[in-house]
Amino acid sequence: MSLVCGCYRLLARSSAQCSSRPATGARSARLRSIARAQASGSSRSTMPQQVGPENYNSRWEDMWTAEGGLKPGQRFDAAKSPPVLSRELSNGGLAAAGARVLIPGCGRGYDVESFVRAGAGTVAGLELAPTAQAAAREYLEGALSPEDQARTQVHAGDFFEWTCPSGQPFDLGFDYTFMCALHPDMRAGWAASWARLLRPGATLACLAFPIEPERTTGPPWPVTPQQYKDLLLPAGFTLEREEPVPPELSHPGRGGMECWMLFKRQ
Ligand SMILES: C[S@@+](CC[C@H](N)C(=O)[O-])C[C@H]1O[C@@H](n2cnc3c(N)ncnc32)[C@H](O)[C@@H]1O
Repeated sequence: MSLVCGCYRLLARSSAQCSSRPATGARSARLRSIARAQASGSSRSTMPQQVGPENYNSRWEDMWTAEGGLKPGQRFDAAKSPPVLSRELSNGGLAAAGARVLIPGCGRGYDVESFVRAGAGTVAGLELAPTAQAAAREYLEGALSPEDQARTQVHAGDFFEWTCPSGQPFDLGFDYTFMCALHPDMRAGWAASWARLLRPGATLACLAFPIEPERTTGPPWPVTPQQYKDLLLPAGFTLEREEPVPPELSHPGRGGMECWMLFKRQ
């Protein structure tokens, strides 16, 4: 436990601001939204807080099956993609047309759906929890046309060990509410797995969340944009874009706690 607490203290000391974030107005907006989130419990999970890395993975299936099964809109499930992703896919900020896309920790698959609708060639969701895989398949069957479903896959597997059955690397990765879900001790392996699964020249889009320095527990573990850079740059990525997300482009309760980051795999 002391190791875990020590990890957290290190995280909490790190800078929590996007580099381009204006200081005062954004900070007070973020603090207001943190208060809202704390009041609503929207960024909390029902996992035991401050858990250690041992048996960490088995907790996810437990969460997906608890109390009759996780329903849309419960806990981390926001019932749709984050608005900033929809904006970036529609305005060309994130070019997905024809791309082979990987989304680890895809949950019920809302982001899988968004990339398919944006014209991606193939979208692969990956889930550790078998119940989440089944929930994603069920959701996507209902949401997508048969033609779109033909470009959609939901795999069961552990991001740290998984290899795509096709053997082909991906052109584009999307990481939201995934890095923050992992125990901080797993983060170096997270960056190495992204480097392994993406082809040279591929884009990795990270929506950093929750940038919440006052938070003392996890999951979701607090993150900073600097941590993404510290992990990904030594793993062979370069930073292409880093922008704080305007509160109106975040899910309710998450405003002021997100940063849009694009990395390129060298
Ligand atoms: C916080 S949830 C977010 C789910 C989804 N992205 C969303 O926003 O609704 C994290 C998800 O990652 C999955 N997960 C955790 N560790 C994983 C791993 N090592 N490989 C693949 N999926 C994992 C969990 O089962 C869980 O569904």
